[in-house]
Amino acid sequence: MADNGPEKKKSDFRYATGDAKVPWAAIGEHVWHEDMMGIVRMLVKPGADRPAFDSAMTGVEEALMKLCGCGQPTAKLSLGDTVKALEEEVAQFLGSKYVCFVTNATAGFQIAHQFADLGPGDEVILPAITFIATGVYPPLVGAKCVFADIDPRTVNMDPEDVARKVTPNTKVIMPVHIGGYPVDMDPIMEIAEEHDITVIEDAAHAFGGRYKGRMTGTIGHFGAFSFHEVKNITAFGEGGIVCTDTKFGEYFNQARFCGVDMSRQIENWLYDVVALPTKTGGPQVPGNHSSTEIQAACLLGQLGRLEEIIRIRRERAEYLAERFENVPGLIPAPLDTDEIESTYHLYLLQVDPEELGADIRVFKQRLTEKGVTNIPHFAPLYHFELYRQLGYDTDAIAQSCPNAENAFWHTFTHLPLYPLADEQVEMMADLVIEAAEEIRGA
Ligand SMILES: Cc1ncc(COP(=O)(O)O)c(C=O)c1O
Repeated sequence: MADNGPEKKKSDFRYATGDAKVPWAAIGEHVWHEDMMGIVRMLVKPGADRPAFDSAMTGVEEALMKLCGCGQPTAKLSLGDTVKALEEEVAQFLGSKYVCFVTNATAGFQIAHQFADLGPGDEVILPAITFIATGVYPPLVGAKCVFADIDPRTVNMDPEDVARKVTPNTKVIMPVHIGGYPVDMDPIMEIAEEHDITVIEDAAHAFGGRYKGRMTGTIGHFGAFSFHEVKNITAFGEGGIVCTDTKFGEYFNQARFCGVDMSRQIENWLYDVVALPTKTGGPQVPGNHSSTEIQAACLLGQLGRLEEIIRIRRERAEYLAERFENVPGLIPAPLDTDEIESTYHLYLLQVDPEELGADIRVFKQRLTEKGVTNIPHFAPLYHFELYRQLGYDTDAIAQSCPNAENAFWHTFTHLPLYPLADEQVEMMADLVIEAAEEIRGA
């Protein structure tokens, strides 16, 4: 009998094939050697030696053709065994009961908010300074973002201001471990417990960090990590993990894929579709946040390098802190302590405007002129037009977040740490110090 292609597994629920004479794998297009070559060409660009590159590429193409000639295409491209293997490995790494690989961290936040039953009139407390992804889902469902001020030393959410801003409508608190530096989670969890609030950690930068012996992202009721292309490790450019120890983790599969529930059937063949259970009981309708096998394979590979990547980042942060320590006007980043381990996703550089004789805007301009990349996009979200369009009173919110205002306009920026070469890190330190000395007229 002709080869029917890869065997259909029970988990491939969409097609009822029985003992297929017509192979189920005929239903969708396969990925074959031309497609793989497209990926190789996209991932690896020509270097200085063009003839060597072209010759190597020809070799790869020949090898792929040969491989495809004697192999058969994979039966699964989406939500298959590789996604499952990744989730198992990450669950073990995090010590988390339930782990779900999704399109990105933003999708993970949505899923967590849905389990918290976020809806119209509810409030979500998030730090003033973060990336916009932290604050897009609440307004989407008619909930309100309440911006907490920051701790000036870490630029993370200030638990004392969170406590001041809790109201009877507060349903969720979202601490954000900016740059990978852990938020002080204990007081936040105490506030949450006192008022029965769900905590969703925005751990987009913090995969592999620790707070008092626990992995960042696993301390709140939910946590979500990002594997976007600029993160410490990536899933070919996009990807997210949402995790929880709560009972809602049992429903991750439905939350990720349109509520499809394989354990329920209509008649004897069709899966059923369900709403998500939620903390306060209201049904929530899930979307589609499915991820691919190829993204999972990439992330599984990179997981093995994470520890080493964080080690190199830490050493560089320590080096920069040492270089900046005695430079008047510069404030080096906080480093690890007995209680916390950062992932060093970014290096937090702050200035003392009085000592420097200028604020961060002047300093950033000088760094740019010297060719030093700095990362400007963590800003008080309420300054974005979006929130004005939604009717937020930006001036009043700014007044309630004095530290965030001061940090944004006067004191902080982020520097990259990796994958720079050691010489580039050294050069960056030289140029930052040179910029500070020039501004001070030293
Ligand atoms: C602080 C923060 N939160 C959330 C996100 C969103 O992550 P993703 O792009 O995976 O949705 C990012 C992305 O850069 C981020 O910086």
